[in-house]
Amino acid sequence: MRAGLDGLGEVLLEEAAIEQEVARLGAQISGDYADKRLHLIGVLKGSALFVADLMREISIPATVDFISIVPYAQGSASGVVRIRKDLDDPIEGRDVLVVEGICASGLTLSYLLRNFHTRNPASLRVCTFLAKQRERPADLTLDYVGREVPDVFVVGYGLDLEERYRNLPYIASLA
Ligand code: IMP
Ligand code: MG
Repeated sequence: MRAGLDGLGEVLLEEAAIEQEVARLGAQISGDYADKRLHLIGVLKGSALFVADLMREISIPATVDFISIVPYAQGSASGVVRIRKDLDDPIEGRDVLVVEGICASGLTLSYLLRNFHTRNPASLRVCTFLAKQRERPADLTLDYVGREVPDVFVVGYGLDLEERYRNLPYIASLA
């Protein structure tokens, strides 16, 4: 546990490891989208730090937009997500890459992909920095994953527990 940060457990991903994974993803995405119109969509707020870092590791032209969703109650398995702030711009004809901080049950991303699909993007893929090792909807493909993590609650690097810990530069479990 780090001094002054009681409640934190084990560090699962140090800052250097995060940088390494983000650089790897950025290079891979830059290659895959070299001849496309890459349009990143960050899912607020959890992906904010990841989007900012990932963009800087992408070496091809790219645009960015954000969507803010209201998290559904923990334990509710409905997968119904409310949009608090919608996209600024249409995505029709664009090569959309949804950027998420963490995928757990996959319900949030499934909902967002269904929603974005109706807006007729040229292509639609997903990049999540963390993916929990657990079951997800069979039709949900995580195209780009930074790291798989055990199915425990984690915080840091944008991820919160009731709005705390987002500013930690590393990923940690809770004590
Ligand atoms: P899912 O819909 O179950 O995949 O959950 C996705 C959302 O739940 C993420 O966008 C996070 O906001 C939140 N979430 C899930 N697991 C964690 C965690 O371990 N730490 C912090 N937030 C989490
Ligand atoms: Mg949260």
